[in-house]
Amino acid sequence: MCGCAWRVHAFTAALVLAAHLIKVLSCGEAGGGSRVAKRYVGLYTGPYFDPAAPNNITAQLGTHAYLPCKVRQLSNKSVSWIRRRDAHILTVDRFTFIADERFQAFLVEATDTWTLQVKYVQARDAGVYECQVGTEPKMSHFVQLNVVVPKIEIIGESDMYVKAGTTVSLKCVITQALEEPAYIFWYHNDERVLNYDKSLVEIRMERVAPDTTVGNLIIYGPRREDSGNYSCSPSNLDSASVVLHVLSGEQPAAMQHGNGAALLLPALLPLLGALLPLLGALLPPPPARRLPALLALALLIPILCHDGADEEGQRQ
Ligand SMILES: *[C@@H]1O[C@H](CO)[C@@H](O)[C@H](O)[C@H]1NC(C)=O
Ligand SMILES: *[C@@H]1O[C@H](CO)[C@@H](O)[C@H](O)[C@H]1NC(C)=O
Ligand SMILES: *[C@@H]1O[C@H](CO)[C@@H](O)[C@H](O)[C@H]1NC(C)=O
Repeated sequence: MCGCAWRVHAFTAALVLAAHLIKVLSCGEAGGGSRVAKRYVGLYTGPYFDPAAPNNITAQLGTHAYLPCKVRQLSNKSVSWIRRRDAHILTVDRFTFIADERFQAFLVEATDTWTLQVKYVQARDAGVYECQVGTEPKMSHFVQLNVVVPKIEIIGESDMYVKAGTTVSLKCVITQALEEPAYIFWYHNDERVLNYDKSLVEIRMERVAPDTTVGNLIIYGPRREDSGNYSCSPSNLDSASVVLHVLSGEQPAAMQHGNGAALLLPALLPLLGALLPLLGALLPPPPARRLPALLALALLIPILCHDGADEEGQRQ
């Protein structure tokens, strides 16, 4: 015989080996893999926290926050939520142990997650919360809750002066808002501004960034009657306001009156200049005495200005 038989056997053996290798490599996920998974599970003889669960939660003031505690292989162990700030036990399983109905825990079995719900989040709710599993010894997982407070403002000064007929655009900017307001209402002296006639008034709202919304009130051809307090009131936030002064076109004096103090001051300066030496002369010689007089004058100017502004306010 030749060495052919040996070669055939070696070839068959190599083939079988290759086939087996291919099987292990391609089907490994189903067969060998489960053995690996079983062994992996075996590493944890009891409950363990899922390391992939989020532990830094951010919620907007007034909304509901959900703090997850993902525990694998929990079996019948209890899960408690504890507030770090004062070590107050909030919940144990489904029971709430704090006289604050905003706190509630529930289990979503499909995801092995015990979630602590905090309703109508307040600024003081921010902080660390501990999810504790009743093993021996106890196991803890910490979740940080951040509370963001949206800011709202109307761009510009708190008093706005415009000439009658000049289009006014009030911009209300809401920042640090995780949730876009459902709507923004505008009020004119506590009466809702409606835009039935778009040639007179237009109301817009736009999300300009993930946490920023801009509300816009445009008044075309404002008249004197359109003067007053305008406030921007989003569905889920405090409001911001501005006082609009529409100065009628036929009375340019009114506009000057608005800036009365500013206009008056330059006119008064020469007068003051003339008065100063006079005052100096009236006072006894030592030059140090002039100082109080100057101070008194310096004090008088703001008072004059203030009176002018008040008058304007009352007149409106
Ligand atoms: C948690 O999230 C907040 C808001 O997204 C972020 O400002 C903060 O740095 C985060 N903290 C940690 C520890 O990652
Ligand atoms: C949990 O289950 C184990 C058996 O699986 C039992 O011995 C134990 O008493 C149970 N503990 C509670 C708190 O029900
Ligand atoms: C304008 O109206 C708002 C809402 O009613 C109020 O909170 C605000 O104090 C008013 N502002 C002025 C200057 O009257």
